[in-house]
Amino acid sequence: MKFTLNLNAKVNSEADVIVISAFTKDESTLVNTHWSKEMKTSFAAVNSSVNFKGGKGETYSFTHEGLDVLAVGLGVKTKLTSEDLRKELAKTYKLISKYTSAAIAFDGFVFKGKKEESLNILGEAFGLTAYTFDKYLTKKSDAKLKEVFVDSTEAKSKGKKFQKILDEAVVVTDSINVARDFVNEPPNILRSTEYAKRVKKDVEKIKGVKCKILGKKELQKEKMNLFLSVNDGSAYAPQLVHLTYTPSKVTKNTKHIAFVGKGLVFDTGGYSLKPGGSMINMKFDMAGSSTVYAAFRAAAMMGLNVKITCILGMTDNAVNEHATMPDAIVRGRNGKTVEILNTDAEGRLVLADCLDYACDLKPDAIIDSATLTGACLMALGTEVCGLMSNNKKLSDKLIKSAGNADEYMWELPIIPEWEKDMKGTISDLKNLGGSRWGGTAKAAAFLKEFIKDDIAWAHLDIAGVGDSQSHLPYCPAKGASGAVVRSLVDFLKNS
Ligand code: BES
Ligand code: ZN
Ligand code: ZN
Repeated sequence: MKFTLNLNAKVNSEADVIVISAFTKDESTLVNTHWSKEMKTSFAAVNSSVNFKGGKGETYSFTHEGLDVLAVGLGVKTKLTSEDLRKELAKTYKLISKYTSAAIAFDGFVFKGKKEESLNILGEAFGLTAYTFDKYLTKKSDAKLKEVFVDSTEAKSKGKKFQKILDEAVVVTDSINVARDFVNEPPNILRSTEYAKRVKKDVEKIKGVKCKILGKKELQKEKMNLFLSVNDGSAYAPQLVHLTYTPSKVTKNTKHIAFVGKGLVFDTGGYSLKPGGSMINMKFDMAGSSTVYAAFRAAAMMGLNVKITCILGMTDNAVNEHATMPDAIVRGRNGKTVEILNTDAEGRLVLADCLDYACDLKPDAIIDSATLTGACLMALGTEVCGLMSNNKKLSDKLIKSAGNADEYMWELPIIPEWEKDMKGTISDLKNLGGSRWGGTAKAAAFLKEFIKDDIAWAHLDIAGVGDSQSHLPYCPAKGASGAVVRSLVDFLKNS
């Protein structure tokens, strides 16, 4: 889908459908003062148009000078929020995707007078809603929309700025859609090795990006035995993908952010086997890695002025005669021993070694993202991302970025009692707490043991938000959501 800006617009661009907004006063009176006289006449010529009041979620189709027009109700103008706009534009996309081209009267789709933010939201909403995963369907999606003309009375001098906003929205939504593709890919196709290969290929052409892949031998050399223990039962090699983005101008003030992502291409639970029902959809157990990858990719393509490392720990958690048995004691890369009481608590083992590896790079902050605990869904539901951290400044910044991106993020504490609960009796640590209560933050207490030199660190548990965000019209009702990427991009922009 291509966006074409038409500034200083006197008339609508020529397209198959014209999209205009409408507002309401007290839900009972239509507010369409921003329409042309001719448009108002065409609208009023249809009897049923009296029923359209411009309320949020209301739409009305009519014809004007032989062209289809879609009027989109946005409710009371002064009450319109950024997320309202994103949602209404997502619904609008679904209504116009049957056309090849559309012209949107953009000036009517601005919340609280914020034109630039609204333009970004238009790009986001259309780009995210256009996503389909139909490669395994014989009958493909019938969306046809190829070109969107953005008509605005704004001066032509704004052209460069507006184009940049749209271009960046396309980069971010494309990156989110790449991540969604990875997550939706079935586990018989996306093995650890295939995943690493696809990431390597995807970054090949991005300026300033380097990619290194560590396989089994290299991980052995690195003494990443916790990561390796998860891979013991697998027929496929573990892969640590190490990506680096270096901006074109680096000074001593340039910040270095390290991302770490859980990339379990399938989680059977291992010997602590998951029951059949809980195992379905465990292909999405690599969503944490795709999330940080998408943010990394977008930031690098935008050329943001921040150095970014991205460590993706990829393997499946499977069972064969070599698989790790519960009660195993394994020494991690940082020297601490872990009693593995439950092989289904595998994500924290992979992350532990990856976090220690990331610490050696001495970044200013580390952020990991993982579908780590089912308990996160109990604590925060499926709509809120769990955040845990050892650094208030960092967690506050992340919460602010989530707010800027209209995504829900809530911090859970890591209390000393839970840190104690993760200590072992015959080993330094155990991978399971003494009770199932507080499972999300206990997992974080375990991870915290692998952060050295007091590096600022934050852990994002995306077990709930990683997929099936059916309440968001710009996310597929089922499957990968791409949640949290926009928050992380905002964070990087402000780093
Ligand atoms: N990948 C799962 C977490 C998960 C469960 C994500 C459901 C999304 C939906 C993780 O590896 C896991 O199995 N965690 C266990 C931990 C427990 C054994 C301490 C869990 O949540 O049950
Ligand atoms: Zn598991
Ligand atoms: Zn898992």
